Amino acid sequence: MVNDSLPPNQRRFFLTIILGGLSTALAVVAGWPLFRFLSPDTGGADVEIVEIPRASVDVGGAHFLTYRGRPVVVLQKSAGEFAAFSAVCTHLGCIVKWVSDPGEFLCPCHAGRFSTDGAVLGGPPPKPLEPIPVVLAGDLLRIG
Ligand code: FES
Repeated sequence: MVNDSLPPNQRRFFLTIILGGLSTALAVVAGWPLFRFLSPDTGGADVEIVEIPRASVDVGGAHFLTYRGRPVVVLQKSAGEFAAFSAVCTHLGCIVKWVSDPGEFLCPCHAGRFSTDGAVLGGPPPKPLEPIPVVLAGDLLRIG
């Protein structure tokens, strides 16, 4: 309810404040999802090293996990020989899959293929998968 006893310039000021507040609130509500989408994922960004049980990676198999907010894959090429890579395809950023037969990474988006060393075997990826340090410490694998 607007007080008719207020002079017109005070009513105009009041309405300007109310509309400005509503506009700001709407901008925040509408812009928040866009801000979150464009912001880098910081989930786990403060974790420098991730440990997983050695047994979670089969010989000839791969184990996917999140390290510093991004997908990483740990591979056991042969008994006791481990490697880890960013699971993000270097073409357009899809997440690679592990194909145990023939033993290579396959990108489902454009059929990019990577070896167990992360090297490009075929398809459009311009460079190898990014290696991630991995160390075997007893029954644990330390990634990072
Ligand atoms: S995004 Fe992986 S091949 Fe295109």
